[in-house]
Amino acid sequence: MDKDGQGREGSSATPAKPFLRALAGETLARPPVWLMRQAGRYLPEYRALRARAGSFLDLCYNPEFAAEVTLQPIRRYGFDAAIIFSDILVVPQALGRKLWFEEGEGPRLDPLTGPADVAALDASGIEAKLQPVYQAIRQTRATLPAETALIGFCGAPFTLACYMIEGGGSRNFLKVKQWAYGHPESFRRLVETLVQACVDHLDLQVRAGCDAVQIFDSWAGLLPEEQLFRWSVQPMQLIARGLRARHPDVPVIAFPRGVGPAALMYRRLPEFAALSIDTMIGAHWAAQELQPHIAVQGNLDPAMLIAGGEVMAHEVRRILGKLGGGRHIFNLGHGILPQTPPDHVARLVEIVRGWSSR
Ligand code: CP3
Repeated sequence: MDKDGQGREGSSATPAKPFLRALAGETLARPPVWLMRQAGRYLPEYRALRARAGSFLDLCYNPEFAAEVTLQPIRRYGFDAAIIFSDILVVPQALGRKLWFEEGEGPRLDPLTGPADVAALDASGIEAKLQPVYQAIRQTRATLPAETALIGFCGAPFTLACYMIEGGGSRNFLKVKQWAYGHPESFRRLVETLVQACVDHLDLQVRAGCDAVQIFDSWAGLLPEEQLFRWSVQPMQLIARGLRARHPDVPVIAFPRGVGPAALMYRRLPEFAALSIDTMIGAHWAAQELQPHIAVQGNLDPAMLIAGGEVMAHEVRRILGKLGGGRHIFNLGHGILPQTPPDHVARLVEIVRGWSSR
């Protein structure tokens, strides 16, 4: 889709979307706001549609329902960005792995057991198999307010490898670590396949109408720094570089969760427009060490959104006080939890909207 004239940076006819202005490095009077997992089980209208779809994956692969679920939090709260409703694990599934969700337990995959399984991954089916995702993006785009950005996403190779090798979540992720540390050549082949698949998937999401993308490395924090550089920083950089070779203006947000001060490794990479920070990184430290180099997204504890009231209001204002004076996108440090009262989200948005750095 040709997105010229939709208010992107540099077009003078329509003012650019606030979310894209922040990603372009502008400090706005008040930061744009959206929340990771903003479409989800805390919303009664999500639970209703999910029940009608049958399962979570049925919801993901039904373009009409996926578009509707993407729009639900935008209608309620008027967030500055929508994120397309899907999952990072649709990529391993499109590569030929079995994927299912156990009720209340999370994702399950048939685990990769060795180099032969890696060699059998087939990247040629991404476009055809993930058509429902691109169709959902086109449908969302058609109804999204002009000032609201649409975010596409993928999982980073290390996090995808975690689920693909462990066969789901894990307590200590020993299998994936043993593979990465003990057989780096074969692990590299897996990571390279995933980099290529992610570039293709992001490219197709942008062509369907996404304005920006986010790469989720939820398990990056498991890795010591040299391994982190090799299996998180570099592959994420390669994905961003591959996407930007095809779409030079599309901003990329990196979310390496749990990396602490190793966030410094990501901050100067020109491929990233923003760094999404979890709750363990101090807002003050981020303002000093990260924000001078890159826009910062985050970093409210999702549990604060459950607590609500004065404790939440205080924490939201504290984060705004530390980060709001620079290039900042207000968000959580990780996804919204299902126990979150929808009213508390409304209050959060009201506080951010009422705040001014000037
Ligand atoms: O609103 C949005 O943020 C967009 C949709 C989105 C989902 N998952 C929907 C979802 C996004 C961006 C993701 C990313 C994702 N998926 C990550 C990276 C971010 C993170 O949370 O660390 C990971 C690791 C996954 C894999 C995944 N999917 C897990 C571990 C789970 C189970 C945990 C849980 O919350 O139930 C899922 C399921 C999932 N993905 C749900 C949603 C709304 C819950 C599904 C349901 O039961 O309705």
